[in-house]
Amino acid sequence: LSLVPVPAHVETSPGELPITSSFSVAIDGYQEPRLDRAVERLERQIARQTGLPMRIGRGDTATATLIIRCDHASKPVQDVDEDESYDLEVRPDKASLTAPNPLGALHGLATFSQLISVTPGGFAAPAVRIHDAPRFPWRGLMIDVARHFMPVDVLKRNLDGMAAVKLNVFHWHLSDYQGFRMESKKFPKLQEMGSDSNYYTQEGAKDLIAYARDRGIMVVPEFDVPGHATSWFVGYPQLASAPGPYRIERRWGIFDPALDPTRKSTYSFLDGLVGEMSKLFPAPYFHMGGDEVNGKQWDSNREIQSFMQAHAIKDNHALQAYFVAHMEEIVSKHHKILIGWDEVLSPSLPASVIVQSWRGQSALADAANLGHRGLLSYGYYLDLMHHADEHYSVDPMSEATASLSPEKKKLILGGEACMWTEYVTAENLDSRLWPRTAVIAERLWSSQDVRDIDSMYRRIGRINWELELLGLTHRTSMDAMLRRIAGQDDVNSLWVLAQTVEPVREYDREVLATQRDALNSGAALNRLVDAIPPESKSSREFAHLVERYIASDFRDATTEKYIRAQVTTWAENDARLQPVLAGSFVLKEDAILSTNLASIANIALEALNYAHSNQIPAADWVAEATRTLEDAKKPQDDLVLVVAQPVEVLVQAVSKAKP
Ligand code: ACM
Repeated sequence: LSLVPVPAHVETSPGELPITSSFSVAIDGYQEPRLDRAVERLERQIARQTGLPMRIGRGDTATATLIIRCDHASKPVQDVDEDESYDLEVRPDKASLTAPNPLGALHGLATFSQLISVTPGGFAAPAVRIHDAPRFPWRGLMIDVARHFMPVDVLKRNLDGMAAVKLNVFHWHLSDYQGFRMESKKFPKLQEMGSDSNYYTQEGAKDLIAYARDRGIMVVPEFDVPGHATSWFVGYPQLASAPGPYRIERRWGIFDPALDPTRKSTYSFLDGLVGEMSKLFPAPYFHMGGDEVNGKQWDSNREIQSFMQAHAIKDNHALQAYFVAHMEEIVSKHHKILIGWDEVLSPSLPASVIVQSWRGQSALADAANLGHRGLLSYGYYLDLMHHADEHYSVDPMSEATASLSPEKKKLILGGEACMWTEYVTAENLDSRLWPRTAVIAERLWSSQDVRDIDSMYRRIGRINWELELLGLTHRTSMDAMLRRIAGQDDVNSLWVLAQTVEPVREYDREVLATQRDALNSGAALNRLVDAIPPESKSSREFAHLVERYIASDFRDATTEKYIRAQVTTWAENDARLQPVLAGSFVLKEDAILSTNLASIANIALEALNYAHSNQIPAADWVAEATRTLEDAKKPQDDLVLVVAQPVEVLVQAVSKAKP
């Protein structure tokens, strides 16, 4: 089976349920319109998965292929303490899905659609009994819409992706230095002056919230205070700790402006805004951010300093704690539970506050030790361009949390994948999210001992195209971008290069930026680095071939043939690609990568020849090859030629081989 996430219990049996155009779904037991819409979505999805014409709409219980039975309604406002379990039984004649409430049914439908595949005899779902429930109740995805605005339809298709892998919380990072993205009717200068007209209307937000609820997803808004709030101060400079005027921040980084936590007027403004937003967002949680306050505006404000003296607030950390305590009062008054990034943690933090750890796993343990519920995001930052297996290895229950008592362990609610969008636009958001988000979704849903990396990569290979059928553009947008960059329809040679490189990791794009342009929100994100996936499948597969070849003491002739074919393609690509690169101002800078690919491919060919003929290369050949490879590994145009690493492994192995 190729399910993502892996269910809690699976029992397969012989036989399969054919999926044909007469497929239909009936709903028995508890009924609600959301279930009808879910049935229609399943039918449309099966039509896309199979190409078969499907009748859309609810079928008859006597004849239906799949019968759904829910016991009772879920909460009118979704929360994370609900039973999300389901039982799915597929037999050769029928399938049945039972769940205590619609949330479980929605998850069961996602599983059912993943079971369908092409077989020699037609489309079918294998006979199976699944009992499933999540390991963690909070399985989220955060998207930053402040750095780059993401239109509602872009978010909606990604909610579809979330539902497909059973994520249940969409954390909407709505404000930051670079933009305030939600319409406020009470304080309209927030969006009017702080968003460059890129904001969500309240109607748009309601539509998105309803769309999410239909898919079993709760929407949690984040309005980041007291730092990360420059966009608020454009319209409301009196909120800041230093006199204005302010402008929307165009750069990336951490900046000084912060709310003045000592003035009553700050809190009456926040009370008004939290009140308004609490009515708009039904979820019981409200995220206040709270991260990365550098304190500089507080230090240089004489009134703030004397306030601190008068109230025995000894430093900025204590001032931040004072602010967070006030925020907690406001948020509670509006019947919400406060969430903050891990900087909100202090011994005086009210117990109800949920702490989201981003700076390390130990923050999660610290929070739990102080009695707070916690979410892990450290290790789940998708903007850092880590590989799927790296995210997969990060578990909310780590060494850091191992020593917690069983009671305190229960405080760890789960985690969230985070997508910060300095270098992400509506065009490439999907390719930065998928399929890696699916891997984090599995970590949060499946049992802790589901950790086989080969199985994970095999299964995300399937979810990858299934997501495409759901309307996600993680692959199609790459194609379109490459054609645009190349200015021609035939991008085969560009693909060959594109598959051997990866974007630089961590925050290196900032570190490497030589053009001022690259560090601000007006910069075009239209280069090769923006088009390619974060992880090179070709490189991973090539590295496996090299490992296998070395492990065979260079005797595995088939593997040698594959390696030779691959590196020959790379060696010969440069001549075809250079004219394409020369013809495009965004590709010119990649000429050196293509030359380097050819050089390292030629080194690999020579290494293969040595291995094939049982020869050890001379020391100066090895030294020269190593120099070339080290050089080829250096970032170029925010890209790294990642296949240089396995070639280096091959060269090292050949140079040490026993003849
Ligand atoms: C964060 O990354 N500043 C939460």
